[in-house]
Amino acid sequence: MSNDASSEAKAVIRRNTEEAQGKGNFDVFEELFADDFIDHTPQPGMTPDKPGARRLYKALRTAFPDLHAVIHWQTADGEVVTTFKTYHGTHQGTFLGVAPTGRKIHFEAVDAMRVHEGKITEHWGAANLFSLMQQLGALASADRTERQRSAADAAAPHGVSPIFLVAAGLPSAKRRRILSTGGLKMSNDLRQIPLGSGLRKVERDEGEIFNVAGVRFRWKVKGENTGYAFSIYEQELEPGEGVPLHGHSYGEVFYALSGEIDFLRVTDEGEEWITCTGGETIIIPINALHAFYNRTEKPARLLNISTQLHQAFFDAVEATDRADPFVGTPQPQAMARISELARRFDMHFFPFSPPALRR
Ligand SMILES: [Fe+2]
Repeated sequence: MSNDASSEAKAVIRRNTEEAQGKGNFDVFEELFADDFIDHTPQPGMTPDKPGARRLYKALRTAFPDLHAVIHWQTADGEVVTTFKTYHGTHQGTFLGVAPTGRKIHFEAVDAMRVHEGKITEHWGAANLFSLMQQLGALASADRTERQRSAADAAAPHGVSPIFLVAAGLPSAKRRRILSTGGLKMSNDLRQIPLGSGLRKVERDEGEIFNVAGVRFRWKVKGENTGYAFSIYEQELEPGEGVPLHGHSYGEVFYALSGEIDFLRVTDEGEEWITCTGGETIIIPINALHAFYNRTEKPARLLNISTQLHQAFFDAVEATDRADPFVGTPQPQAMARISELARRFDMHFFPFSPPALRR
């Protein structure tokens, strides 16, 4: 990329920081963010896409109406612009469950954004929200935490359940409730965490169905349910069905529920089928090449546990299907479209037909 192009990319990011984030100009946001924008590090509760970024920007401006950032430096490497900045603002709206305090706050952030043909297409970032929450009084300062810990250590002879220490910091009704559960081991920091809406059951037949280009499964847990820590889907594989050879930059776990599924393990030594039956687990490490098929005559079911990036890939496949349906597309062309899309999610399919798809 030329110096001019890098300067243009940096100018796009600066304009987003100063006008969209700093002045709440959402016309600029709409202009600068690509419709297929991907956030690789979404904040908890936000989707990893353009609507999620818009929601985050609006939530920040509601909480801190005068929010603005001072950019300390920017560098550009190809299309990716890295920015180190400090945000400043006044806390006038609820933020992460903390009611307005009127306090002036500041926090540092580093982010990298890809700018392609003048549009922001990807984001990776980290912000010092720990410092921000301390400034809002939502977290004890490090010094106070240390003093509390020392006091707790002095007050708690070896063997005393930490539940007592937790309960000691809670209002009496809640303290009684928690004490009544008895024997629980909880962190001293639990007192800082709001109880929220509590656990939720997902029924056997509950969950969004994904059915695109020959891949069918049911989401049981999506990223938005887990703070984008992980996603889970349940998949049924009819005899002969499976997923071709691929690898991705995130780990993945399969838990066989019923039937038999054969996973293809590929190493420098060669290929090997590993059979997984009900109750057994397969771990796919980062970048490990793998494929899996039901090579038997009976249906099989498995559970997949992976990250929000994996889910974002399937969400993108679904969006592509809505725009230009896969129905009627021959399998090789459908696979070519999916492979092209997958590359944007650090997933790579390989033109490789595993030997002996039937046992
Ligand atoms: Fe995979």
